[in-house]
Amino acid sequence: MAPHQLPAVLFAALAFFLALAVPSLAGDPDMLQDFCVADYKSLKGPLRLNGFPCKKPENVTANDFFSNVLAAPGNTNNPVGSTVTAANVENVPGLNTLGVSMSRVDYAPWGVNPPHTHPRATEIIFVIEGSLEVGFITTAGKLFAHTVCKGEIFVFPRGLLHFQRNNGGAPAVAISAFNSQLPGTQSVAVALFGASPQVPTDVLVRALEIDGGVVEAIKAKFPTKY
Ligand code: GLV
Ligand code: MN
Repeated sequence: MAPHQLPAVLFAALAFFLALAVPSLAGDPDMLQDFCVADYKSLKGPLRLNGFPCKKPENVTANDFFSNVLAAPGNTNNPVGSTVTAANVENVPGLNTLGVSMSRVDYAPWGVNPPHTHPRATEIIFVIEGSLEVGFITTAGKLFAHTVCKGEIFVFPRGLLHFQRNNGGAPAVAISAFNSQLPGTQSVAVALFGASPQVPTDVLVRALEIDGGVVEAIKAKFPTKY
């Protein structure tokens, strides 16, 4: 092989191995052991990694895999009329490295879970009380919407914008499952109008084709977190 061909061959080999790696990077990584219960305490040290370090196996108990956090209804007395309660690796240490988590969503009558995305997970929602109008929007701008009643499910593909609205005059409840220990949630309104530092008003004026006063009025409704 001529020396000038080497980089092309190396490049092709690299591209091949990267292509093989892509499917295994599509979600949370696979486990390499039975479990790796999150050791929250060790995060106070200098160690930083993708996920949480494991507790010593001799310190692991059944409680690490247990939580009653979804047992109690969330308080829906807020402007959107819904509350999401999460059971993920941040409050159930046994979920670390397992690639799954869950949440409970409580809806006031006509309450809305506003448009949001989960960058790291597909979501499957199961209605356990009431009836919801749900939908997701594709990257091509198509809305897939459906009424989902008690006992029925609906799927929101990973990363796509989605929402739910309680269809009735009584409270509704749903359980969602995710294929990630920490799906992440980005709410459109909170991200655009509640970011810190703020997204410049002129950017939102042009992006949303509304005037600056409206942008400022909406920003005032979303107190910044930091
Ligand atoms: C519902 O969409 C949820 O993220 O829990
Ligand atoms: Mn969701």
